[in-house]
Amino acid sequence: MTVAVGIDKIGFYTPELYVDMVDLAHARGEDPNKYVIGIGQSKQAVIPPTQDVVTMAANAAAQILTPESKADIKMVLFGTESGIDNSKAAAVYLAHLLELPSDTRAVELKQACYGATAGLQLAADFVRARPNAKVLVIGADIARYGLRTAGEVTQGGGAVAMLVTADPQILALDDVSSYHTADVMDFWRPTYRTEALVDGKYSTNVYLDFFNRVWTDYQAQTNRTIADFSGFVFHLPFTKMGRKGLRQILPSATPEQQASLTAAFEASQADNREVGNLYTGSLYLSLLSLLRHGNLRGGERLGLFSYGSGAEGEFFSGVVQPGFDRGFDDAFLTQQLAGRHAVSVTDYEQIYQEQLPNDGRDAHLETGNVTAPYYLAGRQHEQRQYRQH
Ligand code: COA
Repeated sequence: MTVAVGIDKIGFYTPELYVDMVDLAHARGEDPNKYVIGIGQSKQAVIPPTQDVVTMAANAAAQILTPESKADIKMVLFGTESGIDNSKAAAVYLAHLLELPSDTRAVELKQACYGATAGLQLAADFVRARPNAKVLVIGADIARYGLRTAGEVTQGGGAVAMLVTADPQILALDDVSSYHTADVMDFWRPTYRTEALVDGKYSTNVYLDFFNRVWTDYQAQTNRTIADFSGFVFHLPFTKMGRKGLRQILPSATPEQQASLTAAFEASQADNREVGNLYTGSLYLSLLSLLRHGNLRGGERLGLFSYGSGAEGEFFSGVVQPGFDRGFDDAFLTQQLAGRHAVSVTDYEQIYQEQLPNDGRDAHLETGNVTAPYYLAGRQHEQRQYRQH
């Protein structure tokens, strides 16, 4: 008998600051409804210089790890396109901060917003071969398009941490999936740039085209149809994007199922709407949002669509496990989002510019008010100085 493998626990971290999209719309001379309805975002995480992908990942992972589970982690797969080093993996810094055992593999994976999905699938295959092992999969990013750009309203940031194990508490992954790669210049960030280059309209079209391809192929592989699913979870660079994806397939469902799939989508976008774009973590924040706010029952099947510009798309599925709500800390996550405070657009613009300088100079960051368990205190001798409360 093959063992069920999948997501056992999920943690999520985003910093304590956000900018309200109505305020941003006013500052940019746009109708707020364009941002809130047309794009589908209410708030956007603002990332202080004391957080980077390593500290955000540590803050997410610390929520789901115990001394016992740490001892079983045999691999750390860190998906990000906001890496802090062109050579050394963020996963190695993370394993050190979390005090993981040294008999673990630690690597970074990059393919735009698809990196964490690559991590999840590699982790699942690893655990299928070694059912006693656990794998820590991270999706952490800071989405930066630049001030006053068309993409500004689709920024954000944060980290999702997932523990992949045998007999998972949350989602048992089906061992079939459909994926597609094509060399597409819809979004990219050459090594000399801190902000992405993007052809936004084109990227939304490529996203929808890839979804259509992999969903069609998945159905052909499995003989499953839309009727076999209780919900579809999408990569959400902004919530309207997933809504467009769902609308593409809804006509093939019965009216009752259209209503329930739409309700599931509303639940799946609730937290993303409050945080903005996490790039590779966005799909998994959306999964967490559906688990938290939806009406799921054990045994129901979910479809997940992952998209990373450039481009890679994958459709895969999993079965929700009975007692799935034991795999995340709902009260903590609610409090984390509710406890954030708004910054003005002026303050957001200032914080946006306050990244560590790109020239390797020593830097000392103001950390007196930092509340996050893991944070960045600055840089000395070209080395980031990580700290822990
Ligand atoms: N009230 C309600 N909706 C409004 C509105 C208003 N006052 N004004 C505009 N809208 C709607 C538009 O009709 C459009 O909806 P639609 O896409 O369903 O047609 C939506 O708001 C966006 O308006 P648009 O004029 O297309 O926005 P834009 O030219 O500023 O570009 C993006 C939007 C997403 C292309 C841009 O933010 C971007 O480049 N983002 C980064 C790239 C990205 O995230 N790609 C995703 C794939 S990974």
